[in-house]
Amino acid sequence: MKLKLKNVFLVYFLVSLSGLLYALLQLGQPCDCSPHLRAAAEHLRRKDLKISQLQAELGRPPPAPAQPPEPEALPTIYVVTPTYARLVQKAELIRLSQTLSLVPRLHWVLVEDAEAPTPLVSGLLAASGLRFTHLVALTPKGQRLREGEPGWVRPRGVEQRNRALAWLRGKEAAAGGEREPPPVGARGVVYFADDDNTYSRELFEEMRGTRGVSVWPVGLVGGLRFEGPQVQGGQVVGFHTAWEPDRPFPLDMAGFAVSLSLLRSRPGAQFDPTAPRGHLESSLLSHLIDPKDLEPRASNCTRVLVWHTRTEKPKMKQEEQLQRQGRGSDPGIEV
Ligand SMILES: *[C@@H]1O[C@H](CO)[C@@H](O)[C@H](O)[C@H]1NC(C)=O
Repeated sequence: MKLKLKNVFLVYFLVSLSGLLYALLQLGQPCDCSPHLRAAAEHLRRKDLKISQLQAELGRPPPAPAQPPEPEALPTIYVVTPTYARLVQKAELIRLSQTLSLVPRLHWVLVEDAEAPTPLVSGLLAASGLRFTHLVALTPKGQRLREGEPGWVRPRGVEQRNRALAWLRGKEAAAGGEREPPPVGARGVVYFADDDNTYSRELFEEMRGTRGVSVWPVGLVGGLRFEGPQVQGGQVVGFHTAWEPDRPFPLDMAGFAVSLSLLRSRPGAQFDPTAPRGHLESSLLSHLIDPKDLEPRASNCTRVLVWHTRTEKPKMKQEEQLQRQGRGSDPGIEV
């Protein structure tokens, strides 16, 4: 009796299966519809073809796939660059702007040593594709380098960096670009990047998480292969430098970054234009942090990701000669 019931189920199963297989085989076979329906289907198919042809003729590119939104949590890096007019200015700024283009969530704060924005810098910023703010701050006469004076006699770019600090604190108007300072409570990092150094894009990711002041080595500076903090157990315990090691912060301008909130919480902290040679960095940092609280980056300060490179001043002997003959290079062409 049990056996028979099992057979019944087996037969029932096989019949259902073959029914299903038959139905599946029928799918995709030309249907046995009436010629009337077939004509209608053919009509629709031709209309579809026509529509897609017309769409192709319109030549509209397909909508770009949506970019993943930048995570709001990523702090913005404010790169402060003082700059002044000279033969190599455009070359330096182009090189720097194209390095900065590789870095997400970056805002370039360019400060011209000029009375008013120059067309060269304004044009370069507009074409850079970067988020930027354009500031101007003329170096006062007394602080200006005199003709023939070596660059280390007096610190350069002080007025300009302080103008950028004032803008970041909402105390100074901008000449161009994004004029509004970062909103209150915005997460950000401030880095002072001169226009002639060489920067690895990796450096910017190292500094992005800065809570107070972060530090790292700088290559080709101070007469050494590199200068930088010495780190033990993840803490800065000293500095590798050959020159005036007793300075409170024997660091190069390119060797540290400061969190925006720390800068805003100490409104008096700025660079001192009267600071003795080599003490400019200390004049800002001593208002902000204790050396032992510096945050070492770049693998505990064992990797060099920025170089204090110097561009040679171009010689213009031939140019001057031609100019005396009234045949100088076309001054209408920007170099
Ligand atoms: C830095 O050094 C500390 C302590 O020795 C260690 O825990 C940490 O992993 C190091 N960090 C890096 C990025 O090498």
